[in-house]
Amino acid sequence: MSQKAVLFVCLGNICRSPMAEAALREEAVAQGLALTIDSAGTSGLHVGESADARAIAEARHHGVDLSRHRARQVTPEDFLHFGHIFALDQRNLRDLSAVAPRRPLAKVALLMDMVPGREGTAVIDPWYGGPADFATAWDDVALAAKHIVAYLSR
Ligand code: 4NP
Repeated sequence: MSQKAVLFVCLGNICRSPMAEAALREEAVAQGLALTIDSAGTSGLHVGESADARAIAEARHHGVDLSRHRARQVTPEDFLHFGHIFALDQRNLRDLSAVAPRRPLAKVALLMDMVPGREGTAVIDPWYGGPADFATAWDDVALAAKHIVAYLSR
């Protein structure tokens, strides 16, 4: 297990958590912090699929290539490899607890708990929304990424 390994988890691993993964990768590179970063879904619905085209477009808007992402489902082993697992919303957090092994090593938290003033809030699920919802979700995960890098740089 590494404290410098971060996993993001949403429902499908095709919208929010791939954007969070990409945003943190950008921020970590920008700040010169070496991190292992990955993402996964609580559901197996989209395993093997690319990120949602709208998420790819939003990432591209921020200069990030999400086209090579492939969705996977979270596993009990993830709780032994990653120091931090961040759920994108409360349902993801609840569903994660059902997957966790008896002795998890990862610290599991809601992603926006990393952002002062946004504790306890969700990154909105843009799946049924439009481009503006993907933009809002990107802004949230990018903001959280800055706080994660600051936290893990200490
Ligand atoms: P994500 O978005 O959890 O951010 O990847 C969703 C992806 C798929 C579905 C819902 C949300 N779905 O219902 O299939």
